[in-house]
Amino acid sequence: MDNSICRYDAPMRGLLEAINEEPIGTAFIVDEEQKVFGVLTDGDFRRMLLNGRSLEQPLSKDDINPSFVFATEDERFEEVLKKTDTKVRVVPILNSEGRLVNYFRYDHNVKMMPVAEPKLNGNEFKYLSDAFLSTWISSAGAYINRFEKDFSEYCGTNHGVAVSNGTVAIHLAIVAMGIGEGDEVIVPDLTFAATINAVLHAGATPVIVDVDEESWCISPQAIKEAVTSKTKAIIPVHVYGQPCDMDAIMQIASENNLYVIEDAAEAHGAEFKGKRVGGIGHASTFSFFGNKIITTGEGGMVLTNSDELNNRMRVLRDHGMSKEKRYWHDHVGFNYRMTNLQAAIGCAQLERIESILKTRSEIERNYVQTLSQYDFAGWQQNIEGNRRVTWLVCVMLNGKDRDNAIKILRENGVDARPFFYQLSEMPVYSKYATKPCLVSSKLSKCGLNLPTIDNVEFERVSMAFQQIAIDNP
Ligand SMILES: Cc1ncc(COP(=O)(O)O)c(C=O)c1O
Repeated sequence: MDNSICRYDAPMRGLLEAINEEPIGTAFIVDEEQKVFGVLTDGDFRRMLLNGRSLEQPLSKDDINPSFVFATEDERFEEVLKKTDTKVRVVPILNSEGRLVNYFRYDHNVKMMPVAEPKLNGNEFKYLSDAFLSTWISSAGAYINRFEKDFSEYCGTNHGVAVSNGTVAIHLAIVAMGIGEGDEVIVPDLTFAATINAVLHAGATPVIVDVDEESWCISPQAIKEAVTSKTKAIIPVHVYGQPCDMDAIMQIASENNLYVIEDAAEAHGAEFKGKRVGGIGHASTFSFFGNKIITTGEGGMVLTNSDELNNRMRVLRDHGMSKEKRYWHDHVGFNYRMTNLQAAIGCAQLERIESILKTRSEIERNYVQTLSQYDFAGWQQNIEGNRRVTWLVCVMLNGKDRDNAIKILRENGVDARPFFYQLSEMPVYSKYATKPCLVSSKLSKCGLNLPTIDNVEFERVSMAFQQIAIDNP
């Protein structure tokens, strides 16, 4: 940027060099005190030469139109963008003393940075077209078996049952365990609604409990307090990539003869004490929705080590049809099957999961570094013994108005989403909480997710945080 600054009394050659130096074709003309008092473009320069000026002649103040378009440091992305038009493509950004601190260059491709976007740059297209050309485009085919085998092996379980999404994965596991009307299932207050919806669709009664302050995952103490004679299962959610305290949860489950279904929709590849999540409970469920760590577009899987559960889930997934006698139905089942096309994408995604995880944690580290000056920003904890994975980068805005911060981020072209609202706050679910969930309440009001994509423009995020710090005390 410094190279595009030119003194008003420099020879015309200096102006040419300034314009030539940076790819913006613009020089910012400054006075003796480095204060910007004009902007000249390559078009202006061309006109001067055509009017007979020589390269060795100095510029003069008369060459420069003093009413140039500029922006100040505290202006928002949207306001700066409005200052551009077909003629004004570059807007200098000045500090309160009138010195250049940055510039904004209009780019036709400027667009909102999304919170998530799938990375499909491995073998995804190759396997997808292979599945397509094989004509096995429904729910039978080689990629289904391969994806079930590879993903269950990756998580260290004997069986994987691929299904249409992460919500039906939870439903299928609950029904296969024989849980239904009159049974209680303990769920955390801070999770995506799919967790509790699946319990309700199975006809069981969810019991909402609070989460732990450090991990943000379901609190083992709160589970203990919620267990009754009707409790049949616990669904710990490894929320935002953080593994739950599975030792404590499995201990409570074994003391009370309960099933544990890990909801690992947001935590592919995370580990608890050296064991991959999804391989610790009696069953576990994953989502492969487009914003997840690995995706199949829509899709999900249930993992288990139990042969019995595996067999039951396979039957229920396929209309409850007998495996021995086609079109004979022993159960009222569902169509929860995944297609071979989706599984083909999943196989390619799984090949690159470790590099995907590495990139995501680097993105999070960059955010922490870039925003380190803002004391109000709090980050997810790394708990000893846990390999936490970065699903969506989480930031807590302590003492700030979170919703206003999201507005500011969006005005700066940065999409952000609020944390999950607590289940117990929503009228459709509030009756399932027996106690107030204070930790979850605090987290859900302060937290937001930042874009977790390959090309985060940290400068834009930084500009927004500057405004959040000022505007939003
Ligand atoms: C914790 C949790 N459970 C379940 C789901 C449901 O997955 P899906 O959207 O694939 O149905 C999601 C995500 O969407 C989730 O975040």
